[in-house]
Amino acid sequence: MSRRILVTSALPYANGSIHLGHLVEYIQTDIWVRFQRAQGHEVYYVCADDAHGTAIMLKAEDRGITPEALIAEVSAEHQRDFADFHIAFDQYHSTHSPENRHYAELIYQRNRDRGHIETALVRQFFDPERRLFLADRFIKGECPTCHAKDQYGDSCEHCGATYSPTDLIEPYSTISGAVPVLRDSDHYFFRLPDFRALLETWTRSGHLQQEVSNKLDEWFEAGLNPWDISRDAPYFGFAIPETTDKYFYVWLDAPIGYMASFDALCQRTGLNFSDWWSPQSRCELYHFIGKDIVYFHALFWPAMLHGADFRLPTGVFAHGFLTVDGVKMSKSRGTFIKARTYLDHLDPEALRYYFAAKLSDRVEDIDLNLKDFIARVNSDLVGKIVNIASRCAGFLLKGFNNQMKAVQHPLIKALIDAGTAIADSFEERQFSRAIRDIMALADRVNQWLDQEKPWSLAKTDPNNPHIQEVCSISLECFRQLITYLAPVVPQLARASADFLNIQDLSWDARLTPLGDHKLNPFKPLFQRIEQKQVDAIIDASRDNLIATAEPAAVQSNAAPVDTIQNQIDIDTFRKLDLRVATITTAEKVQGADKLLRLIVDLGEDTPRQIFAGIRQAYENPEVLVGTSVVVVANLAPRTMSFGVSEGMILAAGPGGKDIFLIHPDVGAKPGMKVQ
Ligand code: 2FM
Ligand code: ZN
Repeated sequence: MSRRILVTSALPYANGSIHLGHLVEYIQTDIWVRFQRAQGHEVYYVCADDAHGTAIMLKAEDRGITPEALIAEVSAEHQRDFADFHIAFDQYHSTHSPENRHYAELIYQRNRDRGHIETALVRQFFDPERRLFLADRFIKGECPTCHAKDQYGDSCEHCGATYSPTDLIEPYSTISGAVPVLRDSDHYFFRLPDFRALLETWTRSGHLQQEVSNKLDEWFEAGLNPWDISRDAPYFGFAIPETTDKYFYVWLDAPIGYMASFDALCQRTGLNFSDWWSPQSRCELYHFIGKDIVYFHALFWPAMLHGADFRLPTGVFAHGFLTVDGVKMSKSRGTFIKARTYLDHLDPEALRYYFAAKLSDRVEDIDLNLKDFIARVNSDLVGKIVNIASRCAGFLLKGFNNQMKAVQHPLIKALIDAGTAIADSFEERQFSRAIRDIMALADRVNQWLDQEKPWSLAKTDPNNPHIQEVCSISLECFRQLITYLAPVVPQLARASADFLNIQDLSWDARLTPLGDHKLNPFKPLFQRIEQKQVDAIIDASRDNLIATAEPAAVQSNAAPVDTIQNQIDIDTFRKLDLRVATITTAEKVQGADKLLRLIVDLGEDTPRQIFAGIRQAYENPEVLVGTSVVVVANLAPRTMSFGVSEGMILAAGPGGKDIFLIHPDVGAKPGMKVQ
């Protein structure tokens, strides 16, 4: 029976690039969507940019553009990245859209009219210079527990203590540096506790993963609180109806963006919105999300929908985070990899395949082990799958005019029969199990081919009918495997279907044998991954400046939070050989939009070459010639794809265009030690 299924992935914020951590979710969802389509169901996959909030407003201001211009630019970048990873949305929209305003207001008004909105006075830090209220992450100060400096307003990165921003010692605004003052303001609250009974039932009725339901039980036990859904002006978002200076908090209208995006799809295609969103809807609705935003999707969202007389989700599927080589993605390690950086060097389907081979229906984190990634993609996709086709194609071309013949064989039947269990695995989001089963089938086909050895016979008798039979059986098996893999590697599947001269890769189509059938000329279907491609990605992702700031006790704001937690002792610091150098050459590096190639004079016999990630700050690198800078002189040389880097230049600043080289005092000579 054909199902009607609406699927969403979480909406990425419109102030940053898509990276591999994001892609876990979009790839997981896209595979599931493609699988459902291959079953013949009616499926729509919608998403949007999450375009509101203070962070976006401030970023636009920093860049001297309007928030509208910023979100348009980011949306175009996001959509290019997604398309190039073959993530095929039916609609990609924005939360800053008329549709979203409509549904945000409607959901708010319906809840308000039913008594689910209340107001209360909130006392909060206010930046008297920038004249705005400060969210916890825009306040820093000294940790009240361990006295570490520059800790965020909600928790200490150093000792792990959690507290409220008012507990910080000597707090300051990270926006202006001003000392914040406490100020009262009326806020609007969504009365979540009104929905306790509904939520207790809903969260235990098969809509969530077991681990998530258990977590929710803890939250119920801790008690539900009204949720603050308003923010004071200035704010980039939608004004709350009948107020003058209150806006919906970004998280209020973010999930409503799912509806807005679907509404835009309805307008474009003639689908009927209320068939999908009314409480009586028989259509299915699934949200794929990260484990960090369960609270919003499993509590606030169903409650808001119910309070506004809309249907509730059929399922909310949470996944874990991505680690690379066992640890959190890190800029200094070069493992904080943007989608575009990956695409500059590697086939998107390699990553799609690897993620699929790791994903299950659990909330666990998944690891991208770079060595294993190369080995697995090469061994499975090239060594097992493509190998079947490439081994057979030549014999059929040479001896049989590229013609398959009708065949029957128990091996084909075994592969067809296995499709039911594989479909169940995909349906249940047990992708790693599906991949394991598919690869076990590929092993069987390769082993059988090894026994039959058509290549031996072909040496003496290339037209022997047995060769055609063996190759036809193998290619019929290959067609089954390709059908099963198509949701994961759609491009490889399409290229394989072109070779097989077939159109339809649906699950049902595979039941009709190819029979006596003409093939198209064989072309290479997938390239092996080389270690050097992965190295190039890491090189291009490694932030040299941040790597510098990590060990050096130089005042710098350039280090992101995840790299400044580790203290070093004085002996480690003494190991750094910091010296003055004069830049003698400074030029751009072809193919690296972050790097400059510098030649520096350190007072040694030979000048040194250093690659520094400061290009955005020095678009005219020639201005640097003659400048003295501080260099880490005893850093081990590092081979990058552009050449060897023999040291590191110290700089400070938030990054991008605002990076400033650290100059020694006037009078410093090349080679002088920095004390
Ligand atoms: O956590 C995030 O990145 C949010 N932008 C996700 C929003 S998902 C949905 F609710 F819109
Ligand atoms: Zn602390």
